[in-house]
Amino acid sequence: MQKIIILDFGSQTTQLIGRRVRELDTFCEILPYNKFPENDPDVIGVILSGSPFSVYDPEAFKIDLDKIRGRYPILGICYGAQFMSHTLGGRVEPAPSREYGRQHLTTIDLDNPLFRGFDLGSQVWMSHGDTITAIPDGFQCIASTDSVKYAAYWSAPLSSPEGDTDVLNVEGKAAEAPSGAVGGAPIWGVQFHPEVFHSVQGTLLLKNFVVDICGSRQEWSAASFVDTTVAELKEQLGNDRVILGLSGGVDSSVAAVLISRAIGDRLACIFVDHGMLRKNEFTQVMEDYKCLGLNVIGVDASKKFFADLAGVTDPEQKRKIIGRDFVEVFNEQAKALCASSPQGEQEGGYRWLAQGTIYPDRIESLNITGKVIKSHHNVGGLPKEMNLQLCEPLKWLFKDEVRRVGRQLGMPEHLISRHPFPGPGLAVRILGDITPERVRVLQDADDIYIRALREYVCEDGETLYNKVWQAGAILLATVRSVGVMGDERTYEHPVALRAVTSTDAMTADWAHLPYDFMARVSTDIINQVRGVNRVCYDISSKPPATIEWE
Ligand code: XMP
Repeated sequence: MQKIIILDFGSQTTQLIGRRVRELDTFCEILPYNKFPENDPDVIGVILSGSPFSVYDPEAFKIDLDKIRGRYPILGICYGAQFMSHTLGGRVEPAPSREYGRQHLTTIDLDNPLFRGFDLGSQVWMSHGDTITAIPDGFQCIASTDSVKYAAYWSAPLSSPEGDTDVLNVEGKAAEAPSGAVGGAPIWGVQFHPEVFHSVQGTLLLKNFVVDICGSRQEWSAASFVDTTVAELKEQLGNDRVILGLSGGVDSSVAAVLISRAIGDRLACIFVDHGMLRKNEFTQVMEDYKCLGLNVIGVDASKKFFADLAGVTDPEQKRKIIGRDFVEVFNEQAKALCASSPQGEQEGGYRWLAQGTIYPDRIESLNITGKVIKSHHNVGGLPKEMNLQLCEPLKWLFKDEVRRVGRQLGMPEHLISRHPFPGPGLAVRILGDITPERVRVLQDADDIYIRALREYVCEDGETLYNKVWQAGAILLATVRSVGVMGDERTYEHPVALRAVTSTDAMTADWAHLPYDFMARVSTDIINQVRGVNRVCYDISSKPPATIEWE
């Protein structure tokens, strides 16, 4: 399958470039800047990402451009553009002031294939400290803003004998060879970020590059993914059996349905109830899984979790206990399954552990700057003696693609559009120690809130539930405040409501929920949930807050 390679120089927006390319129905791989796959015949173009570094930083990431230059069309974004200009004989200098925010392309070469269909004055998003002050010989400036002369440049494709212009779709390809330029596929550099929302025609620019210039046939779709993956899974798994841990979330559910398409009930799923799921969630999700024809073992292990969590208030301690108990319960079930198969470890036995790992989980753990932003929450730690191989059918997909695949597989919309929910569940939404009673109080408050979000339809016809990335209630069990109900004084706990908007949970804004909605939810919770006499709304963004309170 054709692919675009995105070389990651450490920018925060590299993943976004990947998502934009996938939205163009084109497969792409994000690789560390120094891991270009030299002999991959499927590569049709290369994008160089931005970077937190300046080209002058001693630790700045550098590549040998000669390995790709002339062989594939290249698009350098921000640092990628500066690095190419700097390396090929142009000049990059610190900008007099940081060039940040919205700007407008006041001159554009509208005949250039990269800008086909652009409007003069198009808004773009800049974010850099250095700026290009001279481009290499043979390169041409193709767009400027009032303050950034070289907002975009290119070096035309040449009809040099060493070049291979045939791979290109660019009209009028073989230009005159300017002195100093290398033949073959052209290079573009843009100092703005076409991948971000604020670059209004950024998607058009990426489409021009990926489809018109690199020649993508736009074959990457949910339907093609399902077909090829099911075929690959059949091939990979043969007659073997597979164990998968379900969480009720989108990723593991889609992975399960996909694998069951390939091997039917030779897939056995384990769904552990730690007692801190949402109200009625265990039963409802088990029902959904049954309707999907999945072979699921539901394990109620809540007693064990509550016993081990008794008296524990420290958030990290809670997470550790839940993680450890989860692995214990899961392993016990997995071992029993393995033992139940007459083939044992031989062909046809349980020889695989499937996980709903998705692409961002892996990119984050491969992050080239070495900073781990979010740890990867896996089942993890299966005993070695079980000898299971990993099967991760969603490992190339972004979250929105997982949802598209789920819809393609005919899964119910409420499973697909479900908000993310933390593995440790309500345990990290109860401040203080956890008791079954506190979980029940929080479940009731949370249920009122989530149902109201699902029922509230906005002017555009969308529900509030679908408008927010994630929402939930938090029980402040370490706090009490005075209230009055009827003629009685109350002294009970507050509940905080949280709702955020986000695209990837790395950053999040608090959602501006309508006042009439909040008023109704507050009244309903205080009237209906015994033990709660006050409702607050969390108006902190991430960073500096996090989405979960613990
Ligand atoms: P924070 O609180 O770090 O959360 O802003 C970011 C996203 O990750 C989810 N989250 C978890 N998911 N196991 C999970 O599977 C966990 O331990 C966990 N902790 C946080 C959180 O709900 C949000 O979507």
